[in-house]
Amino acid sequence: MCGIVGYVGRKDAESVLTVGLQKLEYRGYDSAGIALLVKNNIIVRKRAGKIHELINSLAESPLPKSTIGIAHTRWATHGGVCDTNAHPHLSQRGIFAVVHNGIIDNYSYLREMLRQQGYSFSSETDTEVIANLLEYNYLREGELIEALVKTVKQLEGSFALAILFRDDPDLIIGVRKDSPLVVGLGEEENILASDPVAILPHTKRVVYLDDGEIAFVRQNSVEFYDFQGKPIEKEAKILDYTEEDAEKGPYPHFMLKEIYEQPKVLSTNIERYVRSLKPVLLRDLNLRKLLLNKTRIIIEAAGTSYHAGLVGKYLLETYAEIPTEVEYSSEFSYRKLATDSRTLVVAISQSGETADTIDGLRYAKKHGLEVLAIVNRPESTIARESDYVIYTNAGIEVGVASTKAYVAQVQVLTLLALELAHVKGFLTEDELEGMMRHMEALPKKVERVLALDAHIGHIAERIYKTTNVMFLGRGINYPTALEGALKLKEVSYIHAIGYAAGEMKHGPLALVDNALPVVVINPRSSAYELTVSSTHEVVSRGGKVISVITEGDRRMAELSTHTIYVPEVPEFLTPIITIVPLQLLAYYAAVLRGVDPDKPRNLAKSVTVR
Ligand code: G6P
Repeated sequence: MCGIVGYVGRKDAESVLTVGLQKLEYRGYDSAGIALLVKNNIIVRKRAGKIHELINSLAESPLPKSTIGIAHTRWATHGGVCDTNAHPHLSQRGIFAVVHNGIIDNYSYLREMLRQQGYSFSSETDTEVIANLLEYNYLREGELIEALVKTVKQLEGSFALAILFRDDPDLIIGVRKDSPLVVGLGEEENILASDPVAILPHTKRVVYLDDGEIAFVRQNSVEFYDFQGKPIEKEAKILDYTEEDAEKGPYPHFMLKEIYEQPKVLSTNIERYVRSLKPVLLRDLNLRKLLLNKTRIIIEAAGTSYHAGLVGKYLLETYAEIPTEVEYSSEFSYRKLATDSRTLVVAISQSGETADTIDGLRYAKKHGLEVLAIVNRPESTIARESDYVIYTNAGIEVGVASTKAYVAQVQVLTLLALELAHVKGFLTEDELEGMMRHMEALPKKVERVLALDAHIGHIAERIYKTTNVMFLGRGINYPTALEGALKLKEVSYIHAIGYAAGEMKHGPLALVDNALPVVVINPRSSAYELTVSSTHEVVSRGGKVISVITEGDRRMAELSTHTIYVPEVPEFLTPIITIVPLQLLAYYAAVLRGVDPDKPRNLAKSVTVR
């Protein structure tokens, strides 16, 4: 949510920063801006709109050359979307330029305080307050580090900052509290960013800032301080990604690329987490002990990760017989917990940076509960703050609509539930091995679903002009209905509702007429017969059924206007095989409507605000 990048080195800062912004565009894309330091002057250019608006403006009227600067891509919180509210924000006397990711909770109070000291404000943002507060403190303290320490103590809320200082042509300052920031260590150049994807083209050696830390980034050195201004030592890590991971390659959009990467992601997790037909997550004895000691699980997650959690509940209760609840993170942290030490909290997150999910994990820990994170991005806040972590290994996901990360989350939850069931004695060795044989066959079966790409594109042509679509599923595929509806609405802006098929007759059936496409997810499973009945109820009221069903299923096909056949898999794997066509359906509906599926309006991939 908002992308930050800063550069100091030997290359042309403008081009490094604009390329960096493009890599971070998934974090927010309603406006963008850049500040360069040129002969002890900070020059700012900013534009409302996507990054190409800024790039066009720079091409039309170029800025002077510089090798140091900061830049930002915005997802508006305080103040509407316009050039003035875009970052960077300059302090009144032009001493500092600041870009910010996060929210300053006490900004009104600080703004009033600064007004009384003669400061005026040109934007409605909380960020301009930071720039002026820092300048005010600097002019009083005289020392930069003292001024920074004082400023961060006065700021309440969350903030990752990159700061340019007019009086030092070899310095970018990074500050982190509750929003991510990482420093890339290059050769005669260093770079600061919200996400390593913007650093990858330059170097793989990085240092992640922790909360309460400041970095002084120069061309040939980086120094770190805590919020008391005390120097600290930090360890560099080597990034485990290649540059191609963050590139679209031959695909027109990241969303399509990531849908197509799903067989590879499934295979990666099989390689890492299955040996000789056995899941090996619980060979970590601490994790095994943890799970065996718990009598209840609460999963907290947001968006697509929440839907993965719902599949997880089904699997954990069915196979491992452990009572499991799933909560939106944004609700979980704001209610009284009736738990005891035998409750395990599981935080699921692709990014590991979702503010609500971080709050949930901190809230759980405050109540003395242990937290297991199921996370995609290593070194993320959730990965670092949880007691135990299982990685989902989906690689970098850029498309705002989560696809491969969801499939990886469901796969990991499946492996965990089945292994736990075996350890608890609910599944025999033979049963488990049989299930793992099916898991190993899954990547190839998902490839067969991807081969239906053109067929699904044709179905999208039939529905893309509609205003409403209903998704129905039951049992383990009820979450698939929710996730299918979420995918469609977020990327195509078609209103979509996901419903438990059995609940439809208690209300949503009133919506069914001959104009409503109804997607029924009904692969062979224990919910099959009942879902056939629900489909009859839809068809007899004129509803047009698009069914996602098992190859060879004539009964459902006869009830359907369009069918999408998926290969047969056992019930526990159906949520993975059935979501893939729904991702493609959403993707093609968006493209047909002329919407960029990678950057749906008003959304951002990493939601670091509450
Ligand atoms: C945003 C993204 C979703 C994602 C959700 C939770 O809303 O657009 O795709 O599912 O955040 O994100 P997380 O990184 O915690 O899984």
